[in-house]
Parts: sequence; C-alpha cells; structure tokens
Amino acid sequence: MGGIIVIGAQWGDEGKGKVVDVFSAEADYVIRYQGGANAGHTLTVDGKKTILHLIPSGILHPHTTCIIGSGVVLDVETLHEEITTLQKSGFLQRPEQLLISDGATVLLPYHRALDQAREEKRGLSKIGTTGKGIGPAYEDRASRKALLFGDLFHHDSLEAKLEASLQEKNFLLEHFYQKPPFSAKELTEKIKHLSEQLAPYRCKNTSQVIYKALSAKKKVLFEGAQGSLLDLLHGTYPYVTSSSTIAGSACVGSGIGPTSIEKVIGITKAYTTRVGAGPFPTELKNDPIGEWLLNKGHEYGSTTGRQRRCGWLDLVALRYAIRINGITHLALMKLDVLSGLEQLKICTAYELDGKTITDYPVTPGALERAKTIYKEMPGWKEDISYIRSAKELPKNCLNYVQTIASELGTPIDVISVGPGREQTLWIRPLF
Ligand code: IMP
Repeated sequence: MGGIIVIGAQWGDEGKGKVVDVFSAEADYVIRYQGGANAGHTLTVDGKKTILHLIPSGILHPHTTCIIGSGVVLDVETLHEEITTLQKSGFLQRPEQLLISDGATVLLPYHRALDQAREEKRGLSKIGTTGKGIGPAYEDRASRKALLFGDLFHHDSLEAKLEASLQEKNFLLEHFYQKPPFSAKELTEKIKHLSEQLAPYRCKNTSQVIYKALSAKKKVLFEGAQGSLLDLLHGTYPYVTSSSTIAGSACVGSGIGPTSIEKVIGITKAYTTRVGAGPFPTELKNDPIGEWLLNKGHEYGSTTGRQRRCGWLDLVALRYAIRINGITHLALMKLDVLSGLEQLKICTAYELDGKTITDYPVTPGALERAKTIYKEMPGWKEDISYIRSAKELPKNCLNYVQTIASELGTPIDVISVGPGREQTLWIRPLF
C-alpha cells in the first residue's frame, strides 16, 4: 500500500505522537519531515511518559525504522540528548533504527538565541514562539546560508562555514539585540564532538530509502509536527510556525512524489487548544469550562510547559483542515476529557460582517472578527477512559462523535479515551 500521512488538524498538540506510536506497532517506517524541536510528542507506555521532540514517535517499537528527512530543522544538541535518554530507557539499541538525512538543516545555539532575542524585542506583539530557533533556522535554509547535516562530517571546512554564517548573526545579536555573540571556534569544537556521536545515524539518501520502502509495499507512516492552522502559508499568519505543516509537506520534506500517498489521517482533539498568540474563535477565556479543559486535559505544552488556551471544537476550522490536507480519515483524541460536562457545544459556522459562513476565512484580520455559531448537545457523566470498544460509549457520547463525523463528512477511524496505548478504540484498521 501507499504511504499514510498523520497530521494535526488544529493548532498542534492534538495527540499525533500517541497515534503514530500506536500505528507504529504495524508500521515498518516512520518519517519526520518538517519542523524541529518545537514539537513535543508525548507517549505513554505502561504508565511511563516519554516526550520526543525530534525523533519520530515510532522509535519505541524496535522493529520500526525511523527517518528524519531533509525538511526538518535539526537541533543537534537536543537530538543527541534525546538519543541518550532513549538509550538509557532501553530504546534505540541499534543505530539502524534511526536514519538522519544528510540534507536536513542543522539548527545551532545561535538560532535559538536569535529567536528568543526577537521575541523579547517584539514585546506585546510577540508570536509566542517556542524559542527553539525554528524561524531563524528555516531563514538560513531559504537564504542559502544553512549548514546541512552532511556538512558536519567535513571537519576541515566546518569552522570557515560557521564563520561565514556567524558574521551577520553576531552583528545582529551584538548591535541590534544587545546579546552576546558566538565564537565559531568554540562551536566548531562542540560540533565536531557531536558529529562523532551522531555519525552512526547518518544516511546519505533518505529519499531513496523511503522510495524503496514504498516500492516494496512496506508500511510507511509520515509523522507531521505542529498543526494545519500553524502552517506558514495557510495558517493564521503571522501567528504560525516557519514550516509548512500540511500534508503536502510530507512529500516535499521527505523527497517523495504525491502519487505515493494513499491516506491522510487528520488528528483532532474532541475540543480545541492553542499555545502562543493568535486568533482562536472558540476560545473559552476566563471561563470555568476553559479551566476544566485545561486541568482535566493537562493542557500544558510538552516543549515549553506553557498553559494551552482551551475552547470548544471548531468544525469550521476542521472543515478547512480537511480540505487543505486532503484528510481521508480522522482520529478523535481526548474524548474522555469531556466526560462530566453537562452541556457541550460545537461550532458549526461563523458570523462574519453580518453573514453566516461555513468556510474558514483566510483574509487577514477576518478570523479576529468572526463570531461563533454553536450547536448544543447534552454531555455524559460516565468515565469513558475504561471503555475499550466504541460500541460501549454512552449514548450522548456516541451522538457527539457521530455528529462531528456527519457534519464534517469524514469518517472517524480512531477514538482515544486516555493517554495509554490500550485506551485507543479502533473503528477501522489503519493498514
Ligand atoms: P515556533 O514554531 O517556535 O516558531 O512557534 C510559532 C508558533 O507555533 C507559536 O504560536 C508556537 O506556540 C506554535 N507551535 C510551535 N510548535 C508547536 C507544537 O508542537 N505544538 C503547538 N504549538 C506549536
């Protein structure tokens, strides 16, 4: 069969990590193709939590080969820490389990410093970035100043490359942001050491590995990071990340053609969250239900620890995500968090400038003016986290799920009722 893309259909943190981890039990390959250590994919196995920022969520399954493609901005220090932590916990015991593309963009401490200095200077008009250097690293790639992963193994030319890259950045850091500069010499030493540690994972042609796997009908999963509404071109600009987060990016970032893709699975929570600034029509700000979702859903960022903003499920936004990603199936996550709420609301349309609309508005400033139109539904009291089959869900809960699927015209294949692998209800098999 062709490849399967798993992407976030909201503003990130939808639970992609758990879905990919569960799907990986059957997958041969899992590929990360965009974003960087701004992602935080939380996996819970036998009650033990693992948070991955760069390494694909398939890594907890020893038979799965994980690939980091050229579209990723690779923070080599974080990557090294992540590898070490996984190895100490008994995972990633064979280097063949992880292949890193020679073409991935290297993210270094000066990218992080620039990201943080910029945010500080923006003051109240902050984007609310994760401070992980994502924007500056992608800028380097676009302006053709980036160091690629394959460059790290040419020690003779490293210092000169870093010096060339640092000229402009040190000028900005010192004279515009009043921050300390970086020394090319010190960084070179650090990188040489890191490159020795990372050498076993180096892969000169990941695109070819993926192509061969697909040609041999292997089970290949593409793991998106962040969410569709954070997409650089199609998200809530400028409150977005610096990569393309939609399904098309899987092809670009891993170097395969679109005809190799068979399914696109959109992951959505049963409600909505967002971290950082930007419009969020269904937000429950200063509202007891917003607090409920925050506390019961443990809605704190796994990368930055920041509180996530919480709100009702937004079908207008989801319809847009389904369209721009070509989502064929949905996974509905954290349904258990809604148990106990008397009344539930789903946003089915917006009112914009006196008109009712069901298409997500993309004109700058429009989403900020949009007012929500809700459908109300009765909630359910029962704790559903122990349920293991969708048929056993309480009537009102099933009604909530079916309403979402029929309003969106897209089947829900998977329902998640808790963080554990076993708390996953399959309506249809993945492969
Ligand atoms: P950046 O990706 O660090 O530049 O941050 C840009 C925006 O994307 C900010 O609003 C972040 O909070 C948001 N963001 C980045 N990565 C994630 C993620 O993995 N989950 C949720 N939001 C994210």
